[in-house]
Amino acid sequence: DEVICDRQSHIYNYEGGGIAFNSGCSVRLLHGERGLFTAEDVAQNINNPEDVHLPLTRLVSVENTCNRGGGSIYDFEELKKIGEVCRKYGLKYHIDGARLFNAIVETPQTPRDYGKIFDTISICLSKGLGCPVGSLLIGNKQDIKKARRVRKVFGGGMRQAGYLAAAGIYALDHHIDRLKEDHRKAREIAKVLENLPFVKTVLPVETNIVVFDLKDGIERDEFLKKLKQKNILAIAFGPQRVRMVTHLDIKDEMLEKLFQILQKIV
Ligand SMILES: Cc1ncc(COP(=O)(O)O)c(C=O)c1O
Repeated sequence: DEVICDRQSHIYNYEGGGIAFNSGCSVRLLHGERGLFTAEDVAQNINNPEDVHLPLTRLVSVENTCNRGGGSIYDFEELKKIGEVCRKYGLKYHIDGARLFNAIVETPQTPRDYGKIFDTISICLSKGLGCPVGSLLIGNKQDIKKARRVRKVFGGGMRQAGYLAAAGIYALDHHIDRLKEDHRKAREIAKVLENLPFVKTVLPVETNIVVFDLKDGIERDEFLKKLKQKNILAIAFGPQRVRMVTHLDIKDEMLEKLFQILQKIV
C-alpha cells in the first residue's frame, strides 16, 4: 500500500521511517508550497489500482499546521477539495494535526468542521497545548478499535495513562485560546529577524513557528551554539535554516532579552 504525503511532512521525515518499518507501506511524496499540497497534486499521484506493477494508493495525510513549512496553515477549502478526491478514489483521509489548534485559533473553522471531512485526526497535547506528554487519535468507533489493536501490537499500549489524560483535559480546557499569544510573539520575533543584517529570509509567520535563513557565510552551527550559551534554544532546519518556536513558557521579558542578544550575536 502507498501513503500520499508532502516531502516536508513529519510522518515522512521524523518517525524513523515508521511508514515503511511499522506499516510496510511505500510513500508518494508531493512537493507542496511550504508543506501544503493541493487536491490537484493528489489526483495526479493516485496509482491505477488495476495496474499490478503499482502500489495501491490507500491513504492521504496532510499536516496542519506544517512544521517544516514554518507553521503554515492549510486553506480549509483546499482541505475539503482533497477530501472529495479521497472519497472519489476510495482513499482514507488523515490529518496530522499535531498543531491543529494553532490553525483553528487563526481561522474561522471549528474542530467539528475538521471532524466532518477527515477519517482520522491526530493532535498533540504537548507542543502548544503545553502538556509534558500525550497525543490523541480521533476517528470513528471502527477505526479507533483497529488503532487500539495496532498500538498494542506496536508496543505503544499504556495502561496507566489516566494522570496524563488529566493534564490533557486541563490543556484542552485552558490552553487553546492563549495560542494566539504565542502567535503574536512569533510575529514579533520575525519582525526583528527581518531587520537583522545576517538574516537572508524569514518564512511567513502564520502561527508559533519562525523559520529563517542565515546569509551565506554565517556559520549556522556557530550561531546556534552562541544562542544556546545564552539559554536560547533553536534548531537547525536546513543548511542555513533555523527554527524558533514560541510556547506557553515564553514570557514577554524573555522576548526582550532575545532581541537584545540577537542584535549582538554576529
Ligand atoms: C507534525 C507532527 N506530527 C506528529 C508528531 C508526533 O508527536 P508525538 O510523538 O509527541 O505524538 C510531531 C512531533 O514532533 C509533529 O511535529
